[in-house]
Formats: sequence, structure tokens, C-alpha cells
Amino acid sequence: MATAADALQASERAEKKAATSVTLTLKIRRYNPEISDEHRWDEFTIQADPLDRLLDALHEVKWRHDGTLALRRSCGHGICGSDAMLINGRNALACKVLVKDVAPKVTVEPIRGLPVLKDLIVDMDPFLDGYKSILPYLVNDSGEPDRERFQSPEDRARYDDTTKCILCAACTTSCPIFWGDEGYIGPAAIVNAHRFIFDSRDEGGRERLKILSEKSGVFRCRTTFNCTDACPRGIEVTKAIQEVKREILFERF
Ligand code: SF4
Ligand code: FES
Repeated sequence: MATAADALQASERAEKKAATSVTLTLKIRRYNPEISDEHRWDEFTIQADPLDRLLDALHEVKWRHDGTLALRRSCGHGICGSDAMLINGRNALACKVLVKDVAPKVTVEPIRGLPVLKDLIVDMDPFLDGYKSILPYLVNDSGEPDRERFQSPEDRARYDDTTKCILCAACTTSCPIFWGDEGYIGPAAIVNAHRFIFDSRDEGGRERLKILSEKSGVFRCRTTFNCTDACPRGIEVTKAIQEVKREILFERF
């Protein structure tokens, strides 16, 4: 049961929070096809803790100001990849941006290049179609092993960087080639192909390289580095794309 001391502590915490809070105005691009074919901008001004994440601020808007605001999120910790959005013109995860870094005003829009379904929610199907097309799983027809497939630390290190992908689409939707060419498979699909092409236990490399050498594949990339700048996991996306290009040109295909 809460004691008088607990109540006093809670009240002191609330007072301290109020004293340190900042004013944040969120300018949010809204779209609801059931109401209008046009998008609109809405502004909401809230009080927030400087160390809150932008995702917390969006929750404040949704839960206390406008329950119709639509956004995707799940883990709140940069792992599930569901809350990529355009924040002050740059792709980022709302759960990894601190209020203190964007206050007093922040602009929030859906990621570009994918159809907007509502507000900050885009249709991820075209993105996931590209991902699925590169066989994003271990291919090995050598028969069931009796025990785990061994791999040296050096072989494991070869593709370590590209195992970190959380499929947030920040890279693909920051790519000007992807904006202009729906057929381009996009950086995230190439990153995930890289993860298996350079895995010494995998036997599907040639098939993936064939897919990626086609018109919609790696050679559409113009090395603008937007993808590397956008990746919230710090993956060297452009480097991975270059390694796949080189593999097609000089090594195995
Ligand atoms: S490579 Fe980075 S930016 Fe691209 S989908 Fe994976 S985690 Fe997101
Ligand atoms: S909510 Fe999961 S990555 Fe942001």
C-alpha cells in the first residue's frame, strides 16, 4: 500500500519533471484517404522531458491530443525496425531520437518512396517483395548435418555487419534511385543478400548474384551514400553494395 512518504516522493518527482520539461511543437504530415486525397499538416505543442524519445512525444500526441494519429511502433528500443520516419528531413527511428535533440520544433513525415496508407504508416509490401526476392535464408542442399555447421571466427566476421539489419527500410526509402524507379530492389534487399552470399555455409550465392545482376539489381545503385547515412544500425550499406557488385564482376559470376 502506498504510504505518505511514497506520495511525497511521487509529488517531488512530478514537480522535478515539470521544472525540467521542454516545450516541443510537432508538425506532422497527415493523410487519411477516407477523408481526403490530399495530405495536410497538423501541429501539436506538448511538454516533454528532454530525455524522452520522439516516439514518447508522438504517443503523447496520440493518447492525449488526437487519437486518430496513425503510426507503427513496437519495441521502443531500436530493435523491431517499425518506426522509421522522416524526422526533420532525415530518415530515423522515432524511438532513437531524443526530444532534446529536436526541440523546440520537429517535422515528422512518413518515409518516402512507398505508398502512404495513413499518416505515418506506409505500405511495406513493395519493400518486402524486394527482400523476399533475394532468398533471405540459408540455402544448403548438402543434406542434414548431424550437428551444427561449423564456421571459423574469420568466416563469421566476413558478413557480421550485414547481420545487424532490422528491415526498417530507412536505407531503401532514403535512396533517390528507389524513389524514381519502383523496380529497383533497393539497399536493404542487397544488404540481406550480402549476409548470405558471404556466409561460408550457404550454397545459394550464385542464384542471388544472378538475381542482383538483373536490371533491377545492384547496378542501379549510383553510390550516393544516403543509405549508409540513414541506417540506424550503423551498417556500412554502400560498402556492402560495392562488395556484391565486385563479386558479380570479378569473383564468382
Ligand atoms: S540496412 Fe540499416 S537502414 Fe537498411 S533496412 Fe537494414 S537496418 Fe534499416
Ligand atoms: S519501435 Fe522498434 S525500432 Fe523503434
